[in-house]
Amino acid sequence: MGSYLGKEEKDTNLDKVKEITNKLTVKDDQLKQIMKDMNNEFNVGLKDESLSSIKMLLTYVRDVPKGDETGRYLALDLGGTNFRTLMITLVADGQDEPPIVQETHAVAQELMRAPGEELFDYIAGCLLKFARDQNLERGRYPLGFTFSFPCEQFGLSVSKLVRWTKGFTCPGVEGENVAKLLRDAIRRKQQEINVDAMVDVVAVINDTTGTMMSCAHLNKDCCVGLIVGTGSNACYMEQLDKIEKWPGNYSNPNQCVVNTEWGAFGENGELDLIRTEWDKQMDTQTVNPTKQLFEKMISGLYLGEIVRHVLVDLCQQNLLFNGQVPAALMQKNGFSTKQLSEAESDETNSNLRIILIDEIGVGNVTDYDLNVVRLVCKQVSTRAAYVVAVGCSVIIERIKRDKVVIGYDGSVVKKHPKFCGLMESKIKDLISPGRVCELMLSNDGSGRGAAVVAAVAFREKRPFIFVRSDKKNSGRKKVYEFTSYLKAANK
Ligand code: BGC
Repeated sequence: MGSYLGKEEKDTNLDKVKEITNKLTVKDDQLKQIMKDMNNEFNVGLKDESLSSIKMLLTYVRDVPKGDETGRYLALDLGGTNFRTLMITLVADGQDEPPIVQETHAVAQELMRAPGEELFDYIAGCLLKFARDQNLERGRYPLGFTFSFPCEQFGLSVSKLVRWTKGFTCPGVEGENVAKLLRDAIRRKQQEINVDAMVDVVAVINDTTGTMMSCAHLNKDCCVGLIVGTGSNACYMEQLDKIEKWPGNYSNPNQCVVNTEWGAFGENGELDLIRTEWDKQMDTQTVNPTKQLFEKMISGLYLGEIVRHVLVDLCQQNLLFNGQVPAALMQKNGFSTKQLSEAESDETNSNLRIILIDEIGVGNVTDYDLNVVRLVCKQVSTRAAYVVAVGCSVIIERIKRDKVVIGYDGSVVKKHPKFCGLMESKIKDLISPGRVCELMLSNDGSGRGAAVVAAVAFREKRPFIFVRSDKKNSGRKKVYEFTSYLKAANK
């Protein structure tokens, strides 16, 4: 071990590595500055999303569930590398909920780029086969669709995709109503595979909303939903008087869940203070360079890539792996966020040794190498957790309740051994004294949350809300309501 370098040389090199990777260290005053800028963007987004990097999208979810929603619901969950079909049975308080029945389908790289119709046909085909396997061919089933991309909502079941994120680029979907694309695909597939299940797409929600609703179903204090998975985002319950762009209809409850889409923060330079060369190198190799910069500092699709860029840099400066860049690290995604989480999951470096030898193919791994890679992983994940804490703290300060419960989900926050703890302790540093924040792990928010929202929507048969700019009145948006929301939603 350590055969290449003498002790003194190793110490000097480790000091150099620390100095270089220190660029990833973020200080509280920087975080507080970003908090301020982010809060400003929240305000601008709540006024006019075209002027803000943070879109603050209205969800038309106006209340947390009552907790008495019951019945059997279908749900679809699309938002990352997997797509799921689910059947969820909600039961009255005090009863045991039957297990969620679900199927997971991989979303192939080609499908993430294929024409939108192909993507939706695939989803509809999986859904109908699932319905057939669950003997749901007779009857009518409300379906909640968790579609975890930025969408402008015009009521619960009219949801237009603003932009693709997380590596998806399917043409023909941006600007379209995804509920309608799904209904059309279900119709096409029903004929093709001859399955008769009547599926009502009653709600399209974001995974953050699902997470919040699913936690709020169990704990009424939950008013924030957070995802740090393949991508990242948060939603929260905002008061209508703070939402300047609210298009009318001030009926009670006087609030609405806002899907912040905070992933896009930084596109106007707000993160320049802490972005490094490695962030920039990683960004240029994505399908959406210069976009989603906040998300690219914190979420699973990108953290491993940032680590990889730092490691390659250190090798090239002769400070790692004896100056040789392992072939695997030359490839995009050659170091994954999963490996980062695994590496940090054990204190003895034995996981990391296995990763470097067996998965990355490094021939001779010294203790010095292990310490360097470990340090880089720690720097990247700590920065990510602190940056998420910034977003959460902005929301907590806006909500102005003494206690805020944040429902959370996502592979990074669930699988990384220290992420949650780091995030929690930094939130404490950043929020006003006296406020309390509690984190609540969601039990499958994307699936169960969709069912909960579908249950609320189906029970209420909410009117479909249609918003249109009123040209005569200086473009101010006006609200039109249709009582037959399903009919209208198909327009
Ligand atoms: C999407 C959000 C989503 C988040 C987490 C982001 O890329 O824009 O809509 O909530 O990922 O899945």
